Amino acid sequence: MEFLDLPPLLGASGRVRLPGSKSISNRTLLLAALAEGETDIRDLLASDDVERMLEALRALGVEWSRDGERDDYRVRGVGGSFPVKAADLFLGNAGTAFRPLTAALALSGGEYRLSGVPRMHERPIGDLVDGLREIGADIRYAGNEGFPPLHIRPAAIRPGGVVRVRGDVSSQFLTALLMALPLTGVETAVEVVGELISKPYIGITLDLMARFGVVVQREGWERFTVPGGVRYRTPGVVFVEGDASSASYFLAAGAIGGGPVRVEGVGRSSIQGDVRFAEALEQLGARIDMGDNWIEARAPEGGRLKAFDLDLNHIPDAAMTLAVAALFADGPCRLRNIASWRVKETDRIAAMANELRKVGATVEEGADYLCVTPPERLVPAAIDTYDDHRMAMCFSLVSLGDCRVRINDPKCVNKTFPTYFERFGEVTRPVPVVAIDGPSASGKGTVAAQVAEALGYHCLDSGSLYRLVALAAMRTGVSFDDESGLVRLAAALPARFAEGRVFLGGEDVTDAIRTEEASAGASKVAVLAEVRAALLDRQREYRHAPGLVAEGRDMGSVVFPDAGTKIFLTATAQARATRRYKQLIEKGMAANMESLLKDLQDRDARDAARPVAPLQKLPDAALLDTTEMDVEQAVGFVLDRVRS
Ligand code: DC
Repeated sequence: MEFLDLPPLLGASGRVRLPGSKSISNRTLLLAALAEGETDIRDLLASDDVERMLEALRALGVEWSRDGERDDYRVRGVGGSFPVKAADLFLGNAGTAFRPLTAALALSGGEYRLSGVPRMHERPIGDLVDGLREIGADIRYAGNEGFPPLHIRPAAIRPGGVVRVRGDVSSQFLTALLMALPLTGVETAVEVVGELISKPYIGITLDLMARFGVVVQREGWERFTVPGGVRYRTPGVVFVEGDASSASYFLAAGAIGGGPVRVEGVGRSSIQGDVRFAEALEQLGARIDMGDNWIEARAPEGGRLKAFDLDLNHIPDAAMTLAVAALFADGPCRLRNIASWRVKETDRIAAMANELRKVGATVEEGADYLCVTPPERLVPAAIDTYDDHRMAMCFSLVSLGDCRVRINDPKCVNKTFPTYFERFGEVTRPVPVVAIDGPSASGKGTVAAQVAEALGYHCLDSGSLYRLVALAAMRTGVSFDDESGLVRLAAALPARFAEGRVFLGGEDVTDAIRTEEASAGASKVAVLAEVRAALLDRQREYRHAPGLVAEGRDMGSVVFPDAGTKIFLTATAQARATRRYKQLIEKGMAANMESLLKDLQDRDARDAARPVAPLQKLPDAALLDTTEMDVEQAVGFVLDRVRS
C-alpha cells in the first residue's frame, strides 16, 4: 500500500490557485457536447472524474480538443442527441458523469451500457431511473436492482406533463433530468418528491443551463419547468471557477494554522454552494475575508476554533472538512443532516468516524449525523482513505495539530485534485528539524545539545536508543544474534528521558548505557535493519513544535529526510583522538593516545563500510569540520545555518 507521511506542522499561510470545479467542469462538458456550436472551456479541471466524462463524450461521437498543455478545451457540440447510437461506457466512480449521462443517453434513442468501479455499483441510481421510466425510457439494471451497471435501449420517449423524481438521496438525479429534458423539445415539469438535499448544486445546474440558453422556471425547490422548443446553444466561452469544495481544505488550514491562507478562483461571485463553507468556518470563530474571486481565512482572535452544532445539508462535501476541523475545536461538535454522506465515494459517515477515532477523537455516529469530541492531544495514525479523495484531503489537516499523520493511498486525490499535497505543502510550515551526523567522537552530541538549548528545540540523541536496546538485551538475556528478540525489545522499549537523565523501566541508566559493553552492543544492534525499523516511529515522535535537533546516523536520510538543516560534523581522527585523550585524563582515567587513534580509525572504517546505515555525508548536508574549532564556534555555525 502506498502512503504519504505528513510531518507535524507549525502553521499555514500563503496563497493557493484552485483547480477547476468538478461540478462545473463535468456539467459544462455535457452541455457543450449537446449544444449547437463550439464551446471554448477555460480552466477545466484536470482530474480522473473529468477524464471519465471526456472519454465518454469522445466515445459518443463528440469531438473535442485540448489546447496544448493548458487546461483549455474546445468542444464541438452535436446540437441534440449523441451521434453514436451504441456504446459501452466505463465511468469510474464519477457520479457527476454517471448520472447526467444516464439521463441524456436514455433520451438519445440508442443502446448504451454504463458501468463503473465496484463502489459506483453500490451507489443508488433507482430514483433517477424511475423518473426517466415515467417518460418512457427503457433502462434495465445489469447488476443489482436500483444500482449501476445500466443497460439503456432505444425507446419511444413521451415527454411533457410532469415527471416526478426523488430528491432526498442525491440531488444529482434532479440535475441529470433537468439537463437531459431539453433534448425532448417538449415543455416538461419536474416535481421533486421528498425534501431536496444539497440544493446549491441544483443552483449550479440551473445557472449553467441558462448560460447555454435554456432557462428553467423554478418554483421553490419543489417544481422545475423545462421549456419546450429550445435547444442548448453555445455561449462561446465558459470559464470554469475554482473548486469551492477543494478550497475548504486550505481555508480550514488557515483557520487552524494561523493563516492567512487565501484561495484564488472562487469568491463572492461564485455559483458554487460550497463557498458557504466560509460562513460555517466563520461560525467556528475563524476570520474570513472575501473578494469576487478569492477567499481568505485566518485563525480566530483567541486562536482556538469554537465548538459547533450545524445543519450542513447545503454543503455536504465541504462539511467533511468541518468534521476534521472539529479536532481543533474547544468542545464537542455536531454535524447534522448529512445522510447523503452514506452514498458518496464511500460511506463517509462510517469512514470519518473510524479515522477520527484513530487520531484520538470520541465520535458518535448516527444515521445522518456525527458528533465529534476532540481529544486532549492528537495521536499519530495511519489514515485509511477508502478510495475517497476527500478523506485524504481532509485528514491532511491533522498535521496542523503538531501531529504527524500517514495518509494511505494518497493518489486517490486524483479524482478531483491531483496536485493537492504539493499545494498543501506550499502553504504549510513543517516543524523544523536540524539533523546532525558525523563520525564517532566528533562532538556531535555536545553540539546538538547546545544547539537545541539555544533554539529552545527538543533534542534527540538517537544513539542512546540503540544503547538502550543493547542494555535491555544484556539485562534480559537476549542475545545480540537474536534479531527478532531484539526487535521485540526495541518496539516496546520502556525508555524515558527526563532532565538530562535516561531511564529504563524506572531505573536511571544514564551511565550504564555509556559503558564499553553497552557501546559495543549498540554498534551490533544498530546494524540490524529490523531493529532500526522498530525504532523509526519512536524517533519521529520527538518532532514537536517548536522544533527538533536530531543527532545520529540516519537522521537526515531515513528518519527525517525532509529536515531543513542537515549537518555533517567531523574532525580529523587525530583531533578527535586528542579530544578524547584530554577528556579521559581530566576524569583521572588512564589513556593511551596511540590506541585511541587506532580505535577511532578502525571504527570509522567499520562505520563507513557497514551495509546498513553507513556513515556518509549526505549530498544536501553542510560539512562542518571542527578540527580547528571549539564547541562554541561549531554551535555558532549550526545556528547560522538554521537561521538562514
Ligand atoms: O552516537 P552513539 O555513540 O551514542 O551511538 C551508539 C551506536 O548506535 C553507534 O554504534 C552508532 C549507532 N547509531 C546508529 O546506527 N544510528 C543512529 N541514528 C545513532 C546511533
